[in-house]
Amino acid sequence: MSTTSTLRQRLYEHSLRVILDNQTESGAFLACPTMPDYQFSWFRDGAFIAYALTLDGDQVSRHYEGRMAAQWENVYRFHDWCAQTINARQAHLRRAAAAAHKGRTPDMNDILNARYSAKSEIGPAGWPEFQLDGPGMWLWSLQAFIQHIGYAPLPAAWEQAVINAADYLAALWRTPCYDCWEERGEDVHISTLGAIFAGLQAAEALVPSLNYTETREAIRRYVQEHGLTPGGELAKSVGLDMVDANLLSVAVPHGLFAPDDPTMRRTVARIERELHPTGSGVHRHLEDTYYGGGVWVLLALWLGWYYAEVGERDKALALLEWAEAQADADGNLPEQVNTVMLAPDGYQPWVEQRGTIANPLLWTHAKYIILCRKLNLVANQ
Ligand code: BGC
Repeated sequence: MSTTSTLRQRLYEHSLRVILDNQTESGAFLACPTMPDYQFSWFRDGAFIAYALTLDGDQVSRHYEGRMAAQWENVYRFHDWCAQTINARQAHLRRAAAAAHKGRTPDMNDILNARYSAKSEIGPAGWPEFQLDGPGMWLWSLQAFIQHIGYAPLPAAWEQAVINAADYLAALWRTPCYDCWEERGEDVHISTLGAIFAGLQAAEALVPSLNYTETREAIRRYVQEHGLTPGGELAKSVGLDMVDANLLSVAVPHGLFAPDDPTMRRTVARIERELHPTGSGVHRHLEDTYYGGGVWVLLALWLGWYYAEVGERDKALALLEWAEAQADADGNLPEQVNTVMLAPDGYQPWVEQRGTIANPLLWTHAKYIILCRKLNLVANQ
């Protein structure tokens, strides 16, 4: 084995360890164990963490001769936690959906929160909680899990949670909400619509009696009519001539557009031009000031995942290698690095407010596992 592949194998195993060590007894994954504001579980982060473990278990399970791989048990516990958390909000979610169907803005006490403690308690007030991408991503991740492990029938509580989440999303999809960065709560975000689209599609696969075809087609039309920039790229949000690296998700993994669709290609080209300094990571968007607006490791890995899907392996590998070089001496991967900042004055105020940049961030480690698996780089244990 070469030095690179030994180091890679070590970082891969450390990534698994970081994730598994930070799953709480309830099944929730803490976003980051070291930053107090992130010692909560998000559907969004968890969806990708669960997907990484799903892929990992897929390989390892061969050695388990048909028994559930340990990673899959962890994924199971996470999805079970999500299902319980969602079902506990059932009456609220139904009220929110009923309001949206009548053309009213739902009461913010009725929405599905973004951030929960390990015991499913909502995080302290003041957080931008109304985010519709998370439940969509959860549905996508649950379906990927069920498909990989061939698990049937769906436990009754999970089926109920799928219906609760999908009905809620189908009713609210056009309602402005915070995006996956927990910003711009007055806007409709194209990446959020991609996650909702994928979530509804997943719900249909999980519970065949559900049918959201009309809503999914309406979302697609809406994005084509309102979600493009004058240059023909996907827009960050309706009405903005701006891209955001989160638009990668519209294709990979959410599939609202094919990765090689010309619109997606134009979007990625603009992300490359504006948000990806040569040989570095990827900024979220040009107006980012969070911790100075550095380059995000998980976005570099996401761009790598996109390139892996379109068969541009060299580009994917270069991004993976850059991400690997950001690991600290313990092998921990952070949320972002501040070697290149869009708004350097923004860095210190955030350090004073929240402490140093989140590290390790479980979601980053998950993206690392996903890209290694997509590129077939890791030997099975
Ligand atoms: C990010 C979110 C993420 C959360 C926890 C926030 O700063 O913008 O996307 O879910 O951190 O990792």
